[in-house]
Amino acid sequence: MKILVINGPNLNLLGKREPDVYGSKSLDDIMAEVKKRGKAMGLRVECFQSNEEGVLVTRIGECMGKYDGIIINPAAYTHTSVALRDAILACRVPCVEVHLSNIYSREEFRHKSLTAAACIGQISGFGGMSYMLALEGLASTLQSAKKK
Ligand code: DQA
Repeated sequence: MKILVINGPNLNLLGKREPDVYGSKSLDDIMAEVKKRGKAMGLRVECFQSNEEGVLVTRIGECMGKYDGIIINPAAYTHTSVALRDAILACRVPCVEVHLSNIYSREEFRHKSLTAAACIGQISGFGGMSYMLALEGLASTLQSAKKK
């Protein structure tokens, strides 16, 4: 099974960006761990990052028929982007939303996710581990759907 991990704006700065909130690991470090874990689970994991909303929308649209699942950290677009929500719904690829921080324990404007309802689930607050947990959840959901 093929999984695409999509990371949104400013996540390219992980490690340097507010390390007290997001930790000291770089995005490359976290994505290397996700790929390693995916390989051990028999999954093919690819990763993509962009700071631009339109580029993310286009990439999600291209997933239709090419990937079995998506893990997405829409970052700040979580709280603002109807376009990303619509792209997730349109591509019809099961998607899990991920956040490093617990968005519900932070500023009020982060409590609302426009994208989460378009996803099969959301994981928030476990740092880099959020991506691993999303991988486990997504793989298990995809396996059960295959058996049906
Ligand atoms: C984030 C949470 C968002 O509110 C924020 O804008 C981010 C990162 C997270 O992973 O915790 O850029 O998605």
